[in-house]
Amino acid sequence: MAEAAILGFLQNNESIPDSGKFAAELNLDHEEIKNVIKSLQGFRYIEAKELKRETLVLTDEGKKYAAEGSPEFHFFSAVPEEGSISKDDLEKKLEASVFKIGSTQAAKKKWVAMGKQVSRKVQHVEDKVKESLLQIQQGLELDQESLNSLKARKLIVTQGWTGYSDVKKGPCYAPKRKIFATDLTRENLQNWKELEFKEYNFNAKGQPLDAGHLHPLLKVRKQFKDIFCQMGFEEMPTNNFVESSFWNFDALFQPQQHPARDSHDTFFLKAPSTTRELPEDYVERVKQVHESGGYGSRGYNYDWKREEANKNLLRTHTTAVSSRMLYALAKGPFTPKKYFSIDRVFRNEAVDRTHLAEFHQIEGLICDRGLTLGDLIGVLQAFFSRLGMPKLRFKPAYNPYTEPSMEIFSYHEGLEKWVEIGNSGMFRPEMLQPMGLPEDVRVIAWGLSLERPTMILYGIDNIRDLFGHKVDLDLIKRNPICRVGIE
Ligand code: PHE
Repeated sequence: MAEAAILGFLQNNESIPDSGKFAAELNLDHEEIKNVIKSLQGFRYIEAKELKRETLVLTDEGKKYAAEGSPEFHFFSAVPEEGSISKDDLEKKLEASVFKIGSTQAAKKKWVAMGKQVSRKVQHVEDKVKESLLQIQQGLELDQESLNSLKARKLIVTQGWTGYSDVKKGPCYAPKRKIFATDLTRENLQNWKELEFKEYNFNAKGQPLDAGHLHPLLKVRKQFKDIFCQMGFEEMPTNNFVESSFWNFDALFQPQQHPARDSHDTFFLKAPSTTRELPEDYVERVKQVHESGGYGSRGYNYDWKREEANKNLLRTHTTAVSSRMLYALAKGPFTPKKYFSIDRVFRNEAVDRTHLAEFHQIEGLICDRGLTLGDLIGVLQAFFSRLGMPKLRFKPAYNPYTEPSMEIFSYHEGLEKWVEIGNSGMFRPEMLQPMGLPEDVRVIAWGLSLERPTMILYGIDNIRDLFGHKVDLDLIKRNPICRVGIE
């Protein structure tokens, strides 16, 4: 509407002298007219000069008097034509503000004689205030004296106004805006002769690309992976969440009545509930070592049940994968190995600020002849220092499959305490010997969650802010590619 009006008007007229008047005459919104002028000017359809001036507008009080009359007029009208009225009666008759302002103004204008009794001094008055205000409302000129007095009484104020003057045809004027083709589509290329293409703006900045974002866990996983690779570790295949109890527990010399095997700690599978295949001769040696020991051990002295070993579960640790890998390694001539894995494990636990029913486990192991606990401590220290966590403490612990065992603690600045970040140890002979590894081969190993170091590195103190359905997706976008701690 506004655009057609402006371009149409200029077709037959030299110029638009005042955008404000133009809008008022055509009953169009001046803001819209201004926007259109700006845009048409940008495309050089028209030229225009900016126009600034001050206008007078009525305050709320001014609007009231313009509509209802001034207080002094009401005051005067309330005084009888003949005789007088007591001030008290007058006060009762009038609104408080009308009485107050009206009495002062009427006295000042010498319309009334004020005392205990009030009487008229003139017969007839004109409400000039109301008239002046109405004139301003209509945009009419007013003498300076009246303006000053209305301003002094705060009935009017000046307001800045912007518009355009001298709006006329520009070098690219057309009665109607041309629509340029902006895209090189198949249709546009076919009709290129009929179309006019928009010129390229080689100075325009491109849209910023919305690149993908990595979840903090993936970033820290990458850091761990890099560190393992730098330290010469190979990755183990962890692509099976479902595992048999045999590889998850029995191969690790974890007795069948061990509380961790209980359904309170482990998610067992309903279907398929059991494994189909296990290496029979090895199963036999594992049974033997559980029941009566061997390799210098007394075993656990209980009836080992195959049905228990067959039960399928969601792996509770990636050490299940380590046991498969060591078994495979034992089959060939012995070569030292450094293995690692980072993947999901599942535990039937009560969830709280630091625990979920599933998490990512990082697992590392080194297997070579003659390794000691000192090697383990040294490797862990080197490993965590590379991550920016050199503050470590170790605590003696127990695992059915390691002896000795150590829990690993790191200091959490946010929680202001030492938090357990991992578990470690040397695999027992009862685990390694039945696999067929040479007697002097030692395996040092450790496992930790990916979540806890991530929380430490990112200053997150509730695991539910990091993983699961309550995670704020902005967290992922906000955090830069992680470099924390890596030197
Ligand atoms: N499997 C252990 C755990 O779940 C971690 C671990 C791995 C401990 C290797 C010792 C050796 O906590």
